[in-house]
Amino acid sequence: MIYFCHKFRISNAFGYNHTTMMKANEKIPVITIDGPSGSGKGTLCQILARKLNWHLLDSGAIYRVLAFAAFQANIPLMQDDLLVQIAGDMKLQFKPQSDNTLKVLLNNQDVSKEIRTEANGQRASVVSTSAQVREALLQKQRDFRQFPGLVTDGRDMGTTVFPNAGLKLFLSASAEERAKRRYEQLINQGINANLAQVLDELLVRDQRDTARSASPLQVAADAISIDTTKLSIEQVVEQVMGLAKARFT
Ligand code: DC
Repeated sequence: MIYFCHKFRISNAFGYNHTTMMKANEKIPVITIDGPSGSGKGTLCQILARKLNWHLLDSGAIYRVLAFAAFQANIPLMQDDLLVQIAGDMKLQFKPQSDNTLKVLLNNQDVSKEIRTEANGQRASVVSTSAQVREALLQKQRDFRQFPGLVTDGRDMGTTVFPNAGLKLFLSASAEERAKRRYEQLINQGINANLAQVLDELLVRDQRDTARSASPLQVAADAISIDTTKLSIEQVVEQVMGLAKARFT
């Protein structure tokens, strides 16, 4: 069973030499899964992490929590210095659940539902355009690389955060299919949604995530692309487990 509880404030309590830690860390296997919203990354990563018994990094959740914390504190989303301060101060815990959802605690408060709204997704997309914010979150994401391995979900996992990952995947799907999946996910979570609006918002977010200059959403040169439009989640899992076995055993 995989259980991962990660706290943001990590101190090097044993006084390890940072370079030594980095080198040891780089031997830990990583699978990066990047792609736009609704491409199926989230569920795939949860299932893979569970099957492999590896840790899980949902990097989008980190941007979502930061956006939510800033919104709650009435901080403008483009105020980089304050966002960086919040990023440093926030205590975040991730707890994967047996139903493939992720329980997210911000300063011990359960914000799992609040961070998943479309409005907060847009906020996260805005906050994540800042190079300063991305830099402030970089090491925190890399700290998730722990034995026996890590499955990561995001936009720049294979290009920027884990450029030496052993297996890089890029998931895509048509915008209509992604909107449908996102809509169904919101409804299942008890969040009110409208399909046409979900599609519009998804296109806005795609555009912003792809066009930004800081670590934009793009396919890593050595990534394997999978179009999931016509595939079930089970088919995608089977394909990726095959790739993971071939790469890591
Ligand atoms: O994966 P998600 O929908 O939860 O991500 C929310 C936003 O966070 C997304 O629109 C862009 C940003 N994000 C990012 O810039 N880089 C990542 N690695 C993950 C998410």
